[in-house]
Amino acid sequence: MKKVTAFVGSARKKHTHDAAAQFLSNLQAMGDVEVEIVRLSDYRIETCRGCKVCFEKGEAHCPLKDDRDVLIEKMMASDGVVFASPNYAFQVSALMKTFLDRLAFICHRPRFFGKTFTSIVAQGIYGGNKIVKYLDFLAKSLGFNVVKGRCITTLEPMTEKQQRKIDKTLAKQAQRYYEGLEKPDYPSPNLIDLMFFRMGRTKMKLELDDSSLDYRYYADKGWFDSDFYYPTRLGPLKKGAGAVFDWIFTRMSKAR
Ligand SMILES: Cc1cc2nc3c(=O)[nH]c(=O)nc-3n(C[C@H](O)[C@H](O)[C@H](O)COP(=O)(O)O)c2cc1C
Repeated sequence: MKKVTAFVGSARKKHTHDAAAQFLSNLQAMGDVEVEIVRLSDYRIETCRGCKVCFEKGEAHCPLKDDRDVLIEKMMASDGVVFASPNYAFQVSALMKTFLDRLAFICHRPRFFGKTFTSIVAQGIYGGNKIVKYLDFLAKSLGFNVVKGRCITTLEPMTEKQQRKIDKTLAKQAQRYYEGLEKPDYPSPNLIDLMFFRMGRTKMKLELDDSSLDYRYYADKGWFDSDFYYPTRLGPLKKGAGAVFDWIFTRMSKAR
């Protein structure tokens, strides 16, 4: 049985919530999936003050006392995660963004490997596709395996044709996501993912030392010597590409 949790960034229980609920129920129709909807508006999420203590000293030292860790625990306890947000002024809602800012330290010290992610954006007219790209990119940097998200258009009053289009989009997305859940948890990285990993760790290795929390996190995980974030078999092409990335980023770092 897989557990999938959707985090909904709309304070009202309408299109974003309903799309997430429909997506989850589509998944349940495909197999043994346990689901949960987490409405971010039901949780206390404080606005990041920008002190960077989480980056530098560790998230345990954050001065904000809110439900951040409860929400992270929910993600850790899930096999799959969905971020669903309305499009507000061509971006995620403030509720979703406040939540994402609270997770930003995880981009430095990623941890959601082996978990499948997708995004759903509900928009009135325009701008949602860029938000989908943003959420998918962010999820990747948190460590997730990302199944490309989808934007639905919910301009009111909704026509039957529009509703059919949404139903179709969510059914297709659930199908792709379900296939993603069934795939191996630790896939071989593509060249872009490999490049970002090699770039980050080379820069860190050469420009930081163990007075830095991020450096110690990478060292503890063995990432300075590993092929990727998690054990994986790289074919000869990717092995070669990895070595080239290491060489390029070493030179770039030394040239700084
Ligand atoms: C403050 C605000 C800003 C919005 N900005 C946009 C926008 O930039 N582009 C767009 O297509 N729709 C925009 N909308 C429409 C919402 O994205 C749309 O109604 C969505 O379905 C709302 O989701 P909900 O039903 O879950 O609240 C905006 C709505 C609000 C309330």
